[in-house]
Amino acid sequence: IFLQQWQSKVRPYIEMIDYLRRIGIEKDLALPSIAVVGDQSSGKSSVLEALSGVALPRGSGIVTRCPLELKLRKMQAGATWTAVISYRDTQETFTNPAQVESFVRKAQNVLAGEGVGICDELISLEITSPDVCDLTLIDLPGITRVPVKGQPEDIGDQIRRLILKFIEKKETINLVVVPCNVDIATTEALRMAQGVDPHGTRTLAILTKPDLVDKGAEADILQIMQGKVVPLKKGYIIVRCRGQSDINENLSLAEATRLETEFFRNHSHFSYLLEEQRVTTRCLSNRLTKDLVEHIRASLPSLTEQIQIRLSAVRVELRNYGHGPPLEQEKLGPYLSKKILEFSDQISELCRTGASGQAN
Ligand code: GDP
Ligand code: NA
Ligand code: MG
Repeated sequence: IFLQQWQSKVRPYIEMIDYLRRIGIEKDLALPSIAVVGDQSSGKSSVLEALSGVALPRGSGIVTRCPLELKLRKMQAGATWTAVISYRDTQETFTNPAQVESFVRKAQNVLAGEGVGICDELISLEITSPDVCDLTLIDLPGITRVPVKGQPEDIGDQIRRLILKFIEKKETINLVVVPCNVDIATTEALRMAQGVDPHGTRTLAILTKPDLVDKGAEADILQIMQGKVVPLKKGYIIVRCRGQSDINENLSLAEATRLETEFFRNHSHFSYLLEEQRVTTRCLSNRLTKDLVEHIRASLPSLTEQIQIRLSAVRVELRNYGHGPPLEQEKLGPYLSKKILEFSDQISELCRTGASGQAN
């Protein structure tokens, strides 16, 4: 889904930026990454999975134990799906998408130890494929309050520090993931995101697990959607991702996306949100695409300025080189003899003083 919009709307901007980067203009050119924050098991990995089409480790309890940077890089049609996972001194390449989970779990075990520990070392997973879009997504460990057996007492603080490191960056879009069946007013992730982005310009809230809303509690969700509980500048989007039973039944991501739309279409309280484009993963993709294009547009003026600065620096450098050989045949002889004389003068000077005069 994301891919189609991406190619038509964002791709030209990305290509321009890649080009500018190749010719050496780097500053302020970073594309924003998209980070997910939320409580443990709120559905962060599921949301990223639905956005990226890459199956990530997810489930109940602490599953994401290290920050995972998922760099998606689009290749031309026909290129083979390739993943490179890098962490600490390790770098491994694999070509089977079904192996993502096991490679990530292995990396987490190396960095954070087997069990329930967390670690702030980054795992980077770069996937090149014709079927992804150029985008960087960051999956983060979920916020916990009470340590489970085997976790240090200060696990909550450790995780909060780790999350802050990512969400405080100005070029990161923060997706705050909150399940429909918890009290949003007390959601710590939302408070953290508001703390680093008080004007709410890069914070988007995602309500997950709409299928688990208690009968009778639908009106409360609609209150949240209308901004009456925690007002947010960019508002809320509800998505329904694969639940544990869907995963057990090997429901594909594509099929899950279709069922998601069905779910909202048939929902007695939420169906009107479908027309308003405030539900589904597709709608979330739309929003992110729009945000990214806006980000790039907004950075164009400073880009132009950088190009002007570089251009004048290059002009000055060019002037310092003086004139090259003349193009006209008849001027070439005099030019060469002048150069040879200059050179021989420099050699004489060098022989006399041991130091050469400034050539020009
Ligand atoms: P994380 O810990 O925040 O990364 O959460 P996960 O993505 O691992 O999800 C936690 C559990 O919630 C998993 O078993 C998911 O399958 C399940 N889950 C995620 N989204 C939904 C949803 O929309 N509906 C239902 N029923 N379950 C979901
Ligand atoms: Na989890
Ligand atoms: Mg997770």
